[in-house]
Amino acid sequence: MQRPGKAACTLVAKHLGGWRVDPIERRIREFGDRIRDVQARGIYPYLKAVQALDGAHVMIDGRRMLLASSYSYLGLLGHPQITAAAEVALSQYGTGTHGVRLLAGNTDLHDQVEQRIAGFVDAEACAVYSSGYLANFATISALLGRNDVVICDKLNHASIVDGCLLSGARFVRVPHNDIPAFDRALERVPTGAGKLVVVDAVFSMDGDVINLPALAGVCRRHGAWLMVDESHSLGVLGPRGQGIEAHFRLPGVIGIKMSSLSKSIPSAGGYIAGSRDLITFLKHASRAFVFSAALPPASAAAVMASLDVMEAEPQRVTWLQAHIRRFRAALQTGGIPVGNDPTPIVPVITGDDEKALRIARLLDERAIFALPILPPAVPPGTSRLRMTVTAAHSEAEVDIIAEALVAAWREVVLAPAEG
Ligand SMILES: Cc1ncc(COP(=O)(O)O)c(C=O)c1O
Repeated sequence: MQRPGKAACTLVAKHLGGWRVDPIERRIREFGDRIRDVQARGIYPYLKAVQALDGAHVMIDGRRMLLASSYSYLGLLGHPQITAAAEVALSQYGTGTHGVRLLAGNTDLHDQVEQRIAGFVDAEACAVYSSGYLANFATISALLGRNDVVICDKLNHASIVDGCLLSGARFVRVPHNDIPAFDRALERVPTGAGKLVVVDAVFSMDGDVINLPALAGVCRRHGAWLMVDESHSLGVLGPRGQGIEAHFRLPGVIGIKMSSLSKSIPSAGGYIAGSRDLITFLKHASRAFVFSAALPPASAAAVMASLDVMEAEPQRVTWLQAHIRRFRAALQTGGIPVGNDPTPIVPVITGDDEKALRIARLLDERAIFALPILPPAVPPGTSRLRMTVTAAHSEAEVDIIAEALVAAWREVVLAPAEG
């Protein structure tokens, strides 16, 4: 069918029995209206172009700003050893590959990075994908079929949700971190069905940690597979940043370990680590591995160098943990309700979009770059600023961010209520 031409601008389409608004046009227009409104009021905070990086600072529109929304938790983005490793790979292999891994796109760097990751996270084998999103999406949809059941925490990352939907399996979502609810959902799985439980180790918008000891026990009792997304726990939890198993001193309880390679590890891609048989299966049956081009070799080299640096500089995890405690304590003292989770993701929940946008604007005026997170990225009524501190911040910078945030919170959230 031919796309409608100019007439589509009228936003109406002839439909059986009458005229109605074309649903695709309407969806695009409604979203556009919402965004244009925020832009017109000068508080649109997204898609700012970073022109330069320098430790915990970024250059935006020619202004040097203190970054308080980074994912580079260990402060490794721009680390000279990691950049140098990527440059060597770039000059040796070029910018891409000859296609998908299964055919001509596999390099020795891909094999090496998989062995290196498997060693670091204490697994037999590993498969890397060109993004963390694809690693989740491809793995879950390859492992499950129509007669299986997948049980997820309600706050799992979108890439997990999308993999579950694609799989065709019965998709059960349980309340956040509610272990008895996982238990009840597993009780109800029909005999003979495959059972997969998937959770984030650290929840990306809330910064809290899954109750792994209890969940692993429940999965073991029901004979269910347990898959954990470590995108925000790798580099953060465990004495040397090895992740959630090390944090709880429970080696070997997770059957399928996953992480993005673009957070604490400043590269790109994602991995799945687990048994040799699982990885062989995924390398031949998961569609994003089979049908999508290999990770660029320079990214693989950057991952290996990052793991080297993480092992050589374990003090980064110690600094990060100290900054997390300092930041959370300062916010609590200033009257902002935040928890004591041992993670750098600190949600400052305003509830409504407008307040989150205004706080971001006030921080911007003080040259602090922090991002509001609004629905649909978080549930309606829970708009927030997703604040983070990293090992690249100094103590003084952590204090500057906390002080500015407390002042903005008082102005936007407390003052109207007091007045
Ligand atoms: C928990 C979690 N899983 C997966 C992903 C996807 O990773 P990537 O950005 O490498 O696609 C993200 C990214 O934000 C994430 O937060």
